[in-house]
Amino acid sequence: MMKTLLLLGLLAVALCEPTSYVGDKVFRLWPVSDTQVSFIKELASNVKVNFWSPDSADLVTVYSNVDVHIPASHIDMVSVMLQQSGMDYRVLIEDVQTAVRQQLDNNQLTKAHSYVKYNDWANIEAWVSSISSGNPALISRSSLGKTYEGRNMHLLKIGKNTGSTKPAIFMDCGIHAREWISPAFCQWFVQEAVTTYGSDAQMTSLLDTLDIFVLPVFNVDGYEYSWKSERMWRKTRSRNSGSSCIGTDPNRNFDAGWCTVGASSNPCSDTYCGPSVESEIESQNVANFIRKNKSIIKAYLTIHSYSQLLLFPYSYKYGQAKDHAELTSVAASASEALRSLYGTRYTSGPGATTIYLAAGGSDDWAYDLGVKYSFTFELRDTGRYGFLLPESQIKPTCEETMLAVKYIAAHVQKNL
Ligand code: ARG
Ligand code: ZN
Repeated sequence: MMKTLLLLGLLAVALCEPTSYVGDKVFRLWPVSDTQVSFIKELASNVKVNFWSPDSADLVTVYSNVDVHIPASHIDMVSVMLQQSGMDYRVLIEDVQTAVRQQLDNNQLTKAHSYVKYNDWANIEAWVSSISSGNPALISRSSLGKTYEGRNMHLLKIGKNTGSTKPAIFMDCGIHAREWISPAFCQWFVQEAVTTYGSDAQMTSLLDTLDIFVLPVFNVDGYEYSWKSERMWRKTRSRNSGSSCIGTDPNRNFDAGWCTVGASSNPCSDTYCGPSVESEIESQNVANFIRKNKSIIKAYLTIHSYSQLLLFPYSYKYGQAKDHAELTSVAASASEALRSLYGTRYTSGPGATTIYLAAGGSDDWAYDLGVKYSFTFELRDTGRYGFLLPESQIKPTCEETMLAVKYIAAHVQKNL
């Protein structure tokens, strides 16, 4: 009897308990030679390390921070190896499980939707319904289609109904599952838009002339998985033929120099580009919508975390975008607007030169399709908490980001 209970208990743990990160640490490494870069790549191929920044081992370069999440069982060995390599490093997060717990004010699984908390998919879906039915004059909802696992990709259109087709901005959040602050921002944006319409002159004018399409969560399956099973999940949840590893990086899956640089053809990598362009139904649904509406879509904004960056094309090559000068100045001014509130510093520039070459991104794809104002945000922070940004930072992060998004939207409006 006792034995059966114990077995049942173990089975339950194995089947439904989220992965535990007790004793895991995040190290920040600072490689200054090719030998040290190779050392990191070597380490990654031998030990199960989870890259926080950059997104995978392939993207590691000299003179750039490398934040890696090391499982408890390997800490001693990795520490010894790091000391032997002579590389500068420090511990960013002492215990990942504690940080996972501390990002939430309380254990909030059954709680209702809140703009200052991270909301699971069930709460976000309920919110999609209530915010749209509560604001019929400004919001209309639709679906881009279903995800791999059959969830709805809800889309909200925000803007005054003028009776004719308006120019539009498309914004998505949650391409990467673990970047929880991103969907939080999309929800905040929608709420802020509908509550300040009519009182805030800039928002009123924006929504009178433009429609803003908001996809609150792009990678719904991954997001749900990051809540229920593995907090640090990044990719989609599609099966890969010939491999037991799951998922594709949706931001390496678009038709922009697809899988040529800064992406992996290994299904086990966190930057796996997928078996073909738009192999992921989620990327396909977004790309189809933008293609279909390309004559009205004037800007494409995609929200990620972390690093505090405002990036624009190109990321798949070093060559400058045709609109480089204008995009540079818009990004600089938007970053300045963001900083004016709490002093948060952003770095802006083309992806390739600001962080790394990485092909297959939605931003580059949208730009080459003809959407001139194409920007990628990497929200707070710079690594103190990384993906585990505490809920107490949702409000200030969203408030400051609003200023940058509104700046870009106003620039778009001025240049219609
Ligand atoms: N951290 C993001 C990623 O690697 C940055 C995206 C920048 N754009 C790009 N096309 N790589 O997905
Ligand atoms: Zn991301």
